[in-house]
Amino acid sequence: TTRHDDSSPPRLWAHRGLSLHAPENTLAAVREAHKAGCQWVELDVQLLGDGTPVIWHDSDTKRCANANARLSRLTLEAARKLDVGAWFSPGFAGERMATLEEMLALLIELKMGLNLELKLNRGRDPCALAEVVIPRTLAAFPAERLIVSSFSRDALEAAREIEKDPKRLRLGLLYKGVPRDWRKDAERVQAYSVHGKWRRLTRQRAEEVKRAGLKLFCYTANDPKAFAPRWEWGVDGVISDDPRVFN
Ligand code: G3P
Ligand code: MG
Repeated sequence: TTRHDDSSPPRLWAHRGLSLHAPENTLAAVREAHKAGCQWVELDVQLLGDGTPVIWHDSDTKRCANANARLSRLTLEAARKLDVGAWFSPGFAGERMATLEEMLALLIELKMGLNLELKLNRGRDPCALAEVVIPRTLAAFPAERLIVSSFSRDALEAAREIEKDPKRLRLGLLYKGVPRDWRKDAERVQAYSVHGKWRRLTRQRAEEVKRAGLKLFCYTANDPKAFAPRWEWGVDGVISDDPRVFN
């Protein structure tokens, strides 16, 4: 498996922005992460019905907005009418859904790094997502502060088709439990990193990933004591709803 020499991302990233203290995946959540001293954030990206890439996790807006609609049925104009902050707390009322472009601009302004997750909710097209998101992101954002990850192998393969140089586009394989045959996936997309659900990671799998020269990240950990043994297994970084609990 390929080794990459690069400027490594930090040990702690804020999950969906500082999602413990601000509405997830919003510009406000990224500003809060910055204020909390985080250098990197993890954010989810998907397409609205009109093809606009937006920063959003769920397949609909029920949980995180003031009205419900399926993302695949929304236009940007309709999405902008939603309040995506008030559900979290009154102080965030009036927050609007962020487009990918707006989010990249804010991250550049704040000099932050980004783990962008290509989020494929049920029935969505992985190639369509990669084809919109990858060129726009690479055009706007510094490659050394970017990792694109996904649970979808098809999305990662489509991304690798678009940018074949593993240094210009670092790809992360997302898993719940890291499978025995993770190397096959890693080779296929020339992966930079493996991202596993922290409670399901085993020492053996962690050591395999590190021996192969890949980075190893864990999500979503908010309990530093319970997490602690994994640092010794070689874990390079943790995605947390509030990374400050690890300091
Ligand atoms: O990228 C790690 C983590 O965000 C994956 O799960 O559901 O929070 O997007 P989820
Ligand atoms: Mg995510």
